[in-house]
Amino acid sequence: MSNRTFTMIKPDATRKGNTGAILQMINAAGFRIAAMKMTKLSKEKAGEFYAVHAARPFYGELVDFMSSGPITAAILEKDNAVEDFRKLIGATNPAEAADGTIRKLFAASIGENAVHGSDSNENAGIEGDFFFSKLEQF
Ligand code: CMP
Repeated sequence: MSNRTFTMIKPDATRKGNTGAILQMINAAGFRIAAMKMTKLSKEKAGEFYAVHAARPFYGELVDFMSSGPITAAILEKDNAVEDFRKLIGATNPAEAADGTIRKLFAASIGENAVHGSDSNENAGIEGDFFFSKLEQF
């Protein structure tokens, strides 16, 4: 799994009509789309996805936001995918994101930050399997 990562284009980016522009940047950076779907998380599913953050003060806000509208979930393939994708999206807080990164261009705040990217190879596998059966991963 070390050449794969997982992403979600979050509800803020979906609402603003930025899904196509973000996918274009992902393709231009050399990632191959190995799985993709547009869907909407229930509160329960969003809570399950972000369970690792359950003790954080922002957990409730995060779950509410991530279940507030449609997202696009995708598995992306490229050498060094996890690290390279985190460089492409930029820092979690868009105020700290480097110029030219997806979050610098499209994120409004640390909560409404346009995209998610896995933080490790292990989590990339877990997160991809959360959304996609093995039959849906190409
Ligand atoms: P993401 O990469 O999806 O993983 C966890 C998310 O928690 C993160 O992006 C942020 O959107 C969100 N997050 C992190 N810190 C805060 C915070 N202080 N307030 C609100 N949301 C946060």
